[in-house]
Amino acid sequence: MPFYHRMGSIPSKRHIAFYKEDQTLHREELFSTKGFSGIYSNKYHLYMPTAITKIDKISKPKDETWVEAPLEWRLFHTFDQQKDGDPISSRIKYLFNATCAISTAAPKISCKGFYKNAYAHELIFVHKGSGVCKTEFGRIDFTPGDYIVIPKGVIYQVDVNEGENRMLVVESATAFDIPKHFRNEYGQCTESAPYCERDFRPPSQLETFDNKGEFVVYVKAGEDWYTHTMQHHPFDIVGWDGCEYPFAFNIHEYAPIVGQIHQPPPVHLVFTTRDFVVCNFVPRLFDFHPQSIPAPYFHSNVDSDEVLYYVEGNFMSRKGIKEGSISHHPMGLPHGPQPGKTEESIGKKETNECAVMIDTFAPLQSTLAVEQTMVSHYASSWLEKG
Ligand SMILES: [Fe+2]
Repeated sequence: MPFYHRMGSIPSKRHIAFYKEDQTLHREELFSTKGFSGIYSNKYHLYMPTAITKIDKISKPKDETWVEAPLEWRLFHTFDQQKDGDPISSRIKYLFNATCAISTAAPKISCKGFYKNAYAHELIFVHKGSGVCKTEFGRIDFTPGDYIVIPKGVIYQVDVNEGENRMLVVESATAFDIPKHFRNEYGQCTESAPYCERDFRPPSQLETFDNKGEFVVYVKAGEDWYTHTMQHHPFDIVGWDGCEYPFAFNIHEYAPIVGQIHQPPPVHLVFTTRDFVVCNFVPRLFDFHPQSIPAPYFHSNVDSDEVLYYVEGNFMSRKGIKEGSISHHPMGLPHGPQPGKTEESIGKKETNECAVMIDTFAPLQSTLAVEQTMVSHYASSWLEKG
């Protein structure tokens, strides 16, 4: 997050003595990226962030890879499969490569412990449900349509409210950034960007817990899991400032860019990472040339795997889509509207579709969860009848 923010109590200058009421020192922790050269925040703890009494490796069943998955287009319905648990333990991984993993979660209960992803930044898209993401940087309340960006290394837990909860979770080896061309030379969002600073929601309230005891943080490090038992409550920060912190952005705040003729997906960009981009398709007016074709042309993105997660509305170029469906169009195959969809789109003035797209720059592998939920005839859905 390239915008400076501060919460709570911090000293007048970084790296100087900052005393508590009892005249002992707060513990300053620099939370930095790219060594000491990227964006960072300074956190001020009541206790040492290193006060971990026990580190244990724990075994969890791994998501099995569908090794023999053929190179083909796939459509699968993620709502058809769910795992009991909280917003972390109910995750089911579908697609992955070395730098990206795409999962869904349907949590029925809130997190009881704390969680940290040590190797990946997380983007949680809230499809259904509401609650609060409690982090060491403060709390972020969420509702449907929210993207919650949690930088690598942040300790957090998620409380969900009663009712149906559905989330899409994307893990990335590198940060979820605002695309460079949406920012000016000073880092501010440009006038032509589809959002601006006031659309992003940093934590709204910093909650500081001065509790000693045994607090277990579940730590994910790639495919391995550990418990780190801390001597004090992990949310012991009295203040912080900087540019690296969790935040939220609601998909409905995205102001789509439209054109006279069909606009390519990059106009729908939300976040970029080093290894993939995240775009969203939101309700918008269609192209306004008198002969325009709103449905996309066939295209071969020879350097990208395309993943679309369907949220709501009628998706104009596809058939057989349900809420929570994912289509995966791998590099090596062209794709485009299914029979009849191009003609159907002509003359349409607007769309109410809502979807999240992840385009990776390296091929994605599937887990067995894809094989178990996929539509068998999707690869032949472009064959015209007769
Ligand atoms: Fe595409």
